[in-house]
Amino acid sequence: MSDICKNWSTWLKKTRFSYMDENQIQQTLNWLTNIKNIVLDMADLKENQKVADFGCGSGLLGFGVLERFEDKIELIFSDKFQDCLDECENILNNSKIKSNVKFLKSDILDIKLKNDFLDRALTRSVLVHVLDKQQAFSELFRVLKPNGMYCAFEPIISQNTRYYELLIPDEASDYFDFKKAEMEFMTNLNDPLVNFSAQSLDLNMQMAGFNNVVVNVQKVVSKYSPTIETIENWFITPPAPNQKTMKERFMEYFDENKVNKYIEEVKFALSKREIRVCSDTALIRAIK
Ligand SMILES: C[S@@+](CC[C@H](N)C(=O)[O-])C[C@H]1O[C@@H](n2cnc3c(N)ncnc32)[C@H](O)[C@@H]1O
Repeated sequence: MSDICKNWSTWLKKTRFSYMDENQIQQTLNWLTNIKNIVLDMADLKENQKVADFGCGSGLLGFGVLERFEDKIELIFSDKFQDCLDECENILNNSKIKSNVKFLKSDILDIKLKNDFLDRALTRSVLVHVLDKQQAFSELFRVLKPNGMYCAFEPIISQNTRYYELLIPDEASDYFDFKKAEMEFMTNLNDPLVNFSAQSLDLNMQMAGFNNVVVNVQKVVSKYSPTIETIENWFITPPAPNQKTMKERFMEYFDENKVNKYIEEVKFALSKREIRVCSDTALIRAIK
């Protein structure tokens, strides 16, 4: 059992909620349920289809399929990490569904399925963790049957509001240094979290051979007054297992004292006012 895989299960269950209060956790769970339903509605699932949830994690989409179809659909939970599959298997064992479900340990870059096998391939927030998105789309295309459909949700993190956009220059002593660093690491082509846009995803899918590609971008705007603790957590919570925190990203440019000073200045400035934060999300649908 790999540590990374253990970390993914832990990240999904705990870390991602670590800076939220009960209310925010509930809002996030409602948001996830909503995304699950939108992706499954888009997928236009039918009985007897073969469907896979790639990068299933704790099975948000896969269990959504089972809630709707029970064992009347052939479902594959697939993930690169065994802990995620174990997590899904435990949940499944406590359900009444006993057949038509398989578990496949597989990297989305090298899917252990034969060509033209699936009717539907689903992912949520998986490509954002994969460096070579073109290869992932080629694999998804390969394993789908002709007319098979790929449906997904991805956050377009490169478009998120940046910290320096929330501040006015006078509020941080080294504002322009930190702005330059953040602009650089938020557009780093070697970072899977930010090396893509809605346009590049669209292009990647067309290059893989998909038709009728739709990448529907929605801007999510939230306005709130962050607490000092919330702001601290923005900097120290890893965005995924094995990924650097914001603090660690800034520490690739500046020493820890300078970064700590900046974090304190951000806390001081932003904990006094309501902020407006935007993030882009994409709903994706493509046909083989
Ligand atoms: C943010 S989680 C999303 C989990 C789940 N899809 C959901 O909606 O909650 C990302 C998932 O992608 C998986 N993953 C990351 N890289 C992968 C890869 N190269 N191939 C397959 N799965 C991968 C992780 O193990 C993790 O389960």
